[in-house]
Amino acid sequence: MSAPTRPGATDAAGDKPRGVDAPGRATIKARTLRKDAWWRSPLITMTLLTIWVLYALIRTLTQEYYFVAAYHYLSPFSSPCVSASCVPESRDFGTWFGEFPGFIPFAILVLPFLLGFRLTCYYYRKAYYRAFWRSPAACAVPEPHKKYTGETRFPLVVQNAHRYFFYAAIAVSLVNTYDAIRAFSSPTGFGIGLGTIIMVVNVVLLWTYTVSCHSCRHIFGGKLRHFSRHPVRYKMWTWISKLNGKHMELAWTTLGTLMLTDMYIWFVSAGYINDLRIIG
Ligand code: FES
Repeated sequence: MSAPTRPGATDAAGDKPRGVDAPGRATIKARTLRKDAWWRSPLITMTLLTIWVLYALIRTLTQEYYFVAAYHYLSPFSSPCVSASCVPESRDFGTWFGEFPGFIPFAILVLPFLLGFRLTCYYYRKAYYRAFWRSPAACAVPEPHKKYTGETRFPLVVQNAHRYFFYAAIAVSLVNTYDAIRAFSSPTGFGIGLGTIIMVVNVVLLWTYTVSCHSCRHIFGGKLRHFSRHPVRYKMWTWISKLNGKHMELAWTTLGTLMLTDMYIWFVSAGYINDLRIIG
């Protein structure tokens, strides 16, 4: 067989052709034989993720309009607010730190775990490996990289810590749940507004996304020899498996509801709109 003519992936030592250029594979000079718009999905993913990350960066760094004191709406991008830089009414969990410089997000306590959870998520891995790293960009489209070490070396070996980020995400979801309950407030006590409903919907979807995690599914259904001897775990595993089938949709939906919740609180806090009040 002739030597590969197209630059392709090699093994970790960089000497032996791997992947589509491995010995024994047909030598195809074309970059890909696919004729469909295989690039569309990674392009859409890259565009949407970039917009979301830019929005989140701007909102966490500006540190303005993140709280509506009258109804106790606290943005999920700034919760829990535990520094002296936060307005006093938003510090339900106390003041753990002094004044933050502007470049440190209010939610510094949870952001590393939240980002770790999303970045190591099995679905997001597929999404950003394809959209940004092009490893590969699509099925039957060879990646442009010359070496491939998978998730066996730093930094990608950290992906294996996903289960631990899942545990941390449970704690973060509990904080979001607390915020949603606190949003049943008004200047006179109990109250419900459109902001309350948005926060509740957001937190329900966040829980659904968290529970639909592949690690959660394995925690309940993994390492069992006989489902028949563990009916409760089997029931949970069956239920989680159904949600797990919607994990991609939930991943995107929760990015949307997080953004919507923050934007609504921003607009009400800045006085661009009034909260639509139902009670109180
Ligand atoms: S696999 Fe996506 S959150 Fe765990």
